[in-house]
Amino acid sequence: MMSEIKISLRRVGKINPLSIDDFIKEKGFEGFKKAITLAPDEVINWLEKSGLRGRGDAGFPTFIKQRSTATSCYTCEARYVVCNADEGEPGTFKDRFVMENDPFSVIEGMLIAGYAIGANYGFVYIRGEYYDSINKIKNAIQQAYEKGYLGKNILGSVFSFDMNVYLGAGSYLCGEELTLIESLEGKRGYPRIKPPFPAEKGLWNMPTLVNNVETFSHIPFILENGYENYASIGTAESKGTKLYCVSGHVKNPGVYELPMGTKLRELLFNVAGGMKEGFEFKGALLGGAAGTFVDESILDVPMAYETLKKQGATLGSGAVIVVDNKTNLKSMMQSILSFFKHESCGKCVPCRIGTTLLNERIQETKLSEEDLNWMLQQAEYMAKYSLCPLGQSPILPLKSVLTYFKKELV
Ligand SMILES: Cc1cc2nc3c(=O)[nH]c(=O)nc-3n(C[C@H](O)[C@H](O)[C@H](O)COP(=O)(O)O)c2cc1C
Ligand code: SF4
Repeated sequence: MMSEIKISLRRVGKINPLSIDDFIKEKGFEGFKKAITLAPDEVINWLEKSGLRGRGDAGFPTFIKQRSTATSCYTCEARYVVCNADEGEPGTFKDRFVMENDPFSVIEGMLIAGYAIGANYGFVYIRGEYYDSINKIKNAIQQAYEKGYLGKNILGSVFSFDMNVYLGAGSYLCGEELTLIESLEGKRGYPRIKPPFPAEKGLWNMPTLVNNVETFSHIPFILENGYENYASIGTAESKGTKLYCVSGHVKNPGVYELPMGTKLRELLFNVAGGMKEGFEFKGALLGGAAGTFVDESILDVPMAYETLKKQGATLGSGAVIVVDNKTNLKSMMQSILSFFKHESCGKCVPCRIGTTLLNERIQETKLSEEDLNWMLQQAEYMAKYSLCPLGQSPILPLKSVLTYFKKELV
């Protein structure tokens, strides 16, 4: 059995999330205090050696984003840090758990990132329905100002940092980093074409670092405890811990933090208590609607970016939606494909028409093998020709459900 190691959730239950004094008593801002004794590029070197990868979806190395944001456009008058707290991926509810239980850790992670990349302003872009997260983050920001952890010359250093909250209006696509930036600028949530990436031209065309809530919550731990300590947790290419959002008919659904490399069997059958009476495990949808279905053969594969990729599966946001003997997979696919149709912004034809066609076909009472092949072709076409990653998403659940559970759709 894997030992429980907590990073994002290390203060949960130990502090009142509304009290900065509680946070400080539990080593709050120690990571930031360490960071400002180092040169900014040294902080980025620490993140490189820690092996931290982004927890929002794709596991992109955090230090690369930071270094490119810090070094692009020397003449730009501003740089920004943006925390992606939009959490729109179906089956994902970990970021709210961090914000509701330890909002200060996110503020501290953003502060360290701001210092590292030379930014003096940060935004937290929070999903509008997350009332508790919004209140707790706002309170944390206000208390950090009162205690001198935000504002001018923080702790007597030359570093100044201001922070603000912006509320998302319920668009899934606005969780995509460049669409989020458009929305932050007050525009309609349409994606921008990449490149340029946010590190070069982000918010108001300035270099911008966008990271997920969970990613930011790991940064203070690395500075406080050393990169070696962090890098000693996890697998060869996936370091640290991961938050998993377990839903479906297990005895104890919820958010769990476990070292990278933990097996799905351990997560579901030990940590989450196993299946509820009358339900048998059949598989799971990993990573949410834009994720992949797996069957029971995945149970003993260590869950990490590289190991799951080898199996054709994704870790994504950390959503684990359990599929059991009573799950109606056709109805699950109907929800997923109608979700993509609803969230498609309509800007490009392959996705606008493709999501509509896929949704229409999956709703038919009887599907033939030909229908399924045709749907797969449409999804492949979308993945190739769509403008942004949303159009590249339906292929993932569709292809994987057909690999493992085709019989249940015809
Ligand atoms: C359609 C779509 C929705 C996304 N939604 C989110 C989201 O809600 N939260 C998030 O952190 N990342 C989301 N992402 C990923 C972001 O674009 C970006 O990669 C992430 O915020 C980077 O943070 P990280 O490097 O810390 O993982 C989404 C991506 C796509 C394509
Ligand atoms: S792929 Fe879909 S969501 Fe992305 S721009 Fe095209 S229509 Fe909009």
